[in-house]
Amino acid sequence: GRLVVRTPSGASRVLNGNAGLSVMEIIREAGMDELPALCGGSCSCATCHVHVASEWLARLPPMAEDEDAVLDEAIGRDQYSRLSCQIPFSTRLDGLEVTIARME
Ligand code: FES
Repeated sequence: GRLVVRTPSGASRVLNGNAGLSVMEIIREAGMDELPALCGGSCSCATCHVHVASEWLARLPPMAEDEDAVLDEAIGRDQYSRLSCQIPFSTRLDGLEVTIARME
């Protein structure tokens, strides 16, 4: 399915993602260095922080307590914030739009 990714500087790419990968893995496999994802998806670094387009927020799986706690360490957290390693991509999410958060 399609995954639309914007960078903090405003560039935009449409990626083709496989169900079963996380949104973080799809972005990393596309070679986008704007998303460091330093912990490799173990929900402990907050460097996979994205802002989800508002119309998609309610269609994502709910946030777990550990994701919520790690996001508290993220820069610029807002009501659209999620950790992209905690979002499993699926056909239901075809067309999902996320913006990579600023890391500094
Ligand atoms: Fe580290 Fe998501 S990759 S919290």
